[in-house]
Parts: sequence; structure tokens; C-alpha cells
Amino acid sequence: MGTKISLIGAGNIGGTIALLTAIKNLGDVVLVDIAKGVAKGKALDISHSLPVLQCNRKITGTTSLKQIKDSEVIVVTAGVPRKAGMSRDDLVEINLKVMKDVGRAIKKYSPKSFVIVVTNPLDVMTWALQKITGIPHSHVVGMAGVLDTSRFKFHLAEALGFSVQDVSSSVLGGHGDDMVALLRHTTISGIPLEDMIKMKKITRQKVNEIVKRIRTCGGEIITYMGTSAYYSPAASAVEMVECYLRDQKKIIPCSAYLRGQYGVKGIYVGVPVVLGANGAEKIVEINLKKDEKKEFIKSVNSVSDVLKVAKKLI
Ligand code: NAI
Ligand code: 2OP
Repeated sequence: MGTKISLIGAGNIGGTIALLTAIKNLGDVVLVDIAKGVAKGKALDISHSLPVLQCNRKITGTTSLKQIKDSEVIVVTAGVPRKAGMSRDDLVEINLKVMKDVGRAIKKYSPKSFVIVVTNPLDVMTWALQKITGIPHSHVVGMAGVLDTSRFKFHLAEALGFSVQDVSSSVLGGHGDDMVALLRHTTISGIPLEDMIKMKKITRQKVNEIVKRIRTCGGEIITYMGTSAYYSPAASAVEMVECYLRDQKKIIPCSAYLRGQYGVKGIYVGVPVVLGANGAEKIVEINLKKDEKKEFIKSVNSVSDVLKVAKKLI
């Protein structure tokens, strides 16, 4: 058997991840969902695309968590997404119950996997899943920074009229309204964003508007389509799966467990991480200026507040 990727939750994000892994030929996929028929139906639908995609992989769908046995990678999207007017944090109680069910199964059937959590509220659900599974912190990470950074890169490239591929940046902190875009570390084809502002290619006001937009665009998408974004979250999770399986060692923002880095301890939050075959191999500590650090700590405190609620419930 080849590489086994299990996707727990075969809803909008899980189903899209399954398709993207087939397009990228990353491995055999097991889709699991408690909703009867959903995983089976999506697995069959995606399987029908395999000849067109020229992908010789196996995609199966099931309701049984036993089928995740001995997976290399597990992506957890199981749970409930936000509805209009809800914050990500409103989901803590209901999704914590899901993490308990899913976490116990991972511990029992696949404790050696690399686990990527997507379920919201992201940083706290990642903390909970690590706690429940007991899997080393290096092997349980959360996906949010890749998405938040991708959103920032897109809107910046759009405003500048340049290629999305030329923008390099990082959005750190919790996956919430206080996420921190590192403007000083943002470059466009190597040219610092600050220089682009000086060259009058973009105004500071426009950059500030984009920073604000990426904090709220998840909610904006929900108001348009009644459910939360899934194409870009799925693509972002797949970037992490690929990085791990192909030992790419890219520095990408992930929700990772801090042990004093950035002056923070005992919490999962978005930081730059070297992702490779050994999981979250290293946390990269960027030297933040006073105001950047202040913004980061504000975001950490927001995650901390939700974590306190989760700790009581768990
Ligand atoms: P969805 O509702 O389409 O799919 C969730 C699936 O989980 C459903 O099919 C449901 O039946 C299944 N499920 C629930 N409990 C389960 C259990 N115990 N075992 C197995 N399956 C179970 O939701 P969608 O849009 O795929 O979103 C999934 C999660 O991802 C939500 O919590 C959402 O808020 C979050 N999200 C996170 C983002 C991030 O950047 N981290 C971005 C967008 C969404
Ligand atoms: C998003 O950022 C709701 O977390 C979800 O789109």
C-alpha cells in the first residue's frame, strides 16, 4: 500500500482536499464522515475523475474511524462551520466534543500520524486534539496561517497589479480578528513593501485596508454563500500535507505549540514553522519590533481566552 492520507470530515473542505490530493497525486485517501453516505459518495465521485486526472490512487469513503488505521497523514475538518453572525469562537463547545471523538480514534488507530487540524476555533481545537491524542506536539499542527497569508498575498498583488507569485509574506498569531500581517517582512519580487509605498505603487492606507480585509474576509464569504470558505482552506491544508510528505522543509505559518518562543508558553498559535518529514521541525523566531510584538501578544491573549473556556469543558 502506498502513502495513506486520512481525511476526517468529508464536508466542503474535506471533499475538496480529497480532490486536490488526487490532482497532486499525493497518496491513497480515506474519507471519513459520520454523515451516512457523504464520504462514500464523494469518494466515488472523485474516483470517477482519476482516469481524467491520470492518477492511480485509491479513494475510499466510510463512516468508520477504524479505517484511518496507520495513516501517514490525517487532516481533521470534522465539526461545524460558522454561520453568518457567528464568530469562530462560538464553535468551541460543539467542536470540542467532535475533537474528543476524533482524537480518541486517532490515538487508538493511528498514533504515529502527522495530524493537521482545520476545525475552528483553530488554535484551540489544535491544542485539544494534541491533548486528547497525546501525539508529540511536533506532529499535531493547525492550518490557518497558510490561508490567512494567501489571502493577504492575493489582495496585495491585486492592488499592486503584480503577480501573486511575486509576493512573499507571513500572517501570524491566532486565526481570529487579531491576526498579525508582518508588513516589514513582506516583499514583492524581493522589493520590500515599505519601498513600494515610498515608490507610490501603493498607499499605506490601502495596505491597512487589506490588513483589515483579511481579518474579516472569512466572514464576508459566509455572508455571500451561507457557509464558510472551503476552496482556499483546502488548498492551504494540502500545501501542508505536501510539505510533510515530500519533506520540503518550507517555512510556512502554522499553528504550533510554543514553549517560550516569542515569550509565549503552553499554547498553540500561528508562527513560522519549518515543515518537513519530521513534522513541525523548528519554530522560526523572527525578531519582532515593539509594536509588532504588542500586536502578536494581543492575538495570543485572544486565543488564551478561548483556551481557558476549552480547558474547563475538557
Ligand atoms: P462542513 O460542515 O462542510 O463539513 C464538516 C463535516 O464534519 C460534516 O460533513 C460533518 O458530518 C462532519 N463531522 C461532524 N462530526 C464528525 C465526527 N465526529 N466524525 C466525523 N465527521 C464529523 O464544514 P467545512 O466547511 O468543511 O468546515 C470544517 C471546519 O473547518 C469548520 O469547523 C470550519 O469552521 C473550519 N474552517 C477552518 C478554516 C481554517 O483556516 N482553519 C477555514 C475555513 C473553515
Ligand atoms: C475562514 O477564515 C471561517 O475560518 C474560516 O474562512
